[in-house]
Amino acid sequence: MKTKALVLAAGQGTRMKSNGSKVLHKVLGKSLVEYPIIAAKGVGVEEICLIVGHKAEDVKAALGERVSYALQKEQLGTGHAVMQALDFMEDADEVIVLCGDTPLITKETLQTMLDFHREKQNAITVLSTLMEDPTGYGRIVRDANGNLLKIVEQKDATEEEKAINEINGGIYTFDGKLLKYALSKLDNNNVQNEYYLTDTIEILLNEGKRVDAIAIEASDDIAGVNSRIQLAGVTQVMKERINEKHMANGVTLVDPANTYIESDVVIGKDTIIEPGCMLQGNTVIGENCRIGYNSKLTNMTIKDNVDIEVSVLTDSFVDEGTHVGPFAYVRPNSHIGKNIKVGDFVEIKNANIGDGTKISHLTYIGDADVGEGVNFGCGTVVVNYDGQKKHRTTIGNHAFIGCNTNLVSPVVVEDNAYTAAGSTITRTVPENSLGIARAKQENKENWVLKKRQK
Ligand code: UD1
Ligand code: MG
Repeated sequence: MKTKALVLAAGQGTRMKSNGSKVLHKVLGKSLVEYPIIAAKGVGVEEICLIVGHKAEDVKAALGERVSYALQKEQLGTGHAVMQALDFMEDADEVIVLCGDTPLITKETLQTMLDFHREKQNAITVLSTLMEDPTGYGRIVRDANGNLLKIVEQKDATEEEKAINEINGGIYTFDGKLLKYALSKLDNNNVQNEYYLTDTIEILLNEGKRVDAIAIEASDDIAGVNSRIQLAGVTQVMKERINEKHMANGVTLVDPANTYIESDVVIGKDTIIEPGCMLQGNTVIGENCRIGYNSKLTNMTIKDNVDIEVSVLTDSFVDEGTHVGPFAYVRPNSHIGKNIKVGDFVEIKNANIGDGTKISHLTYIGDADVGEGVNFGCGTVVVNYDGQKKHRTTIGNHAFIGCNTNLVSPVVVEDNAYTAAGSTITRTVPENSLGIARAKQENKENWVLKKRQK
């Protein structure tokens, strides 16, 4: 027996009013459909099949080979969607069915459903919950003894049925063989003329099979996203879950309501995250850092004791004890060493910066290898682009770059060399030398007085 998962993601999602696929809309960095996939993997499911239809090519391109796909050419209902994956399911399999638009589902809740399903040896287990306002969901209909009878869709429900608060979460576990059997019996005799997956319940009950619904308390877990308003609501819940995890781990979030941390981010203890920060992708932050207000870090590795203020950093590395900002921009493939100062209005791209270097203000360093203990004066520009190609510049240890120096790449400033302020350096400055490349000053005495006399 294998446990496999089907994720239904072929629907159009009309209410999103979007040109793209509904399930590719993002919640804190991941598309909606990635979350049920992760939850399924979390309970040990290895084979996952996504039912795609609307914008199928986009969905496949976004998710790649981590799942297999079955195409539902026409969206004739959730039961019809599952029929497209008959080849994916063996009789002996246990099949979990999830929806691509329920990102808050957790592996814990799936495990609760699986345990219940196995213990009761059910043919179908439905995940349900009690909702104050059940409008729009399928209702769980039970008899006087609490036995499940059927699921009835809102549109097909009687007034009495509409009053039921227990709703179908759209997440199920099936016995593979019985699922296939029930699918072969489905019809579309309902208000929407759709093949409802939920009708498999009545079909198998009529055959004397064991079918039940397990009501979970965490109703957030099965909240579906059908509109932008629900997308925002789900983002809010996701944000709270992530932020609470970090606070429990010893991270200070000054204002969790205004802190946006994506789910794969790792943060060490005693680090302080100030309001307005966005921490994205595979960012890993060490201990005892301060990520100052309104900073955005994407796929960054930040070691311990780093202090960042109002800055944007992407796909780079910052070592211990370094200070960045305010208003710095660190672009991809930069390696910034220990105890460095990257000050205001400094941009660094595809560069290595050695320990203890100071780049205090208004400087651009692109495509360069900078040694240790270098001092950059204000307004230095590494002129890395000649209009056609990028070139690399090398600056040795303890070099001193005067204010307003242009370093026209490729060029080398050797160890302990200086450049004079205002120089445009185009040739190597040898070790221990001063490179001056600017016009000599000439003073015209009494020039002003003569001009006034004219
Ligand atoms: C479905 C359930 C309902 C439940 C609700 C939970 C049925 C008949 N109803 O209703 O009982 O309370 O989910 O959210 O199953 N999809 C396809 N192909 C289709 C139709 C849908 O792939 O032909 C996908 C959608 O992309 C979506 C999921 O199936 O991810 C659910 O479809 P949706 O139309 O949202 O079903 P609901 O009306 O919400
Ligand atoms: Mg839905």
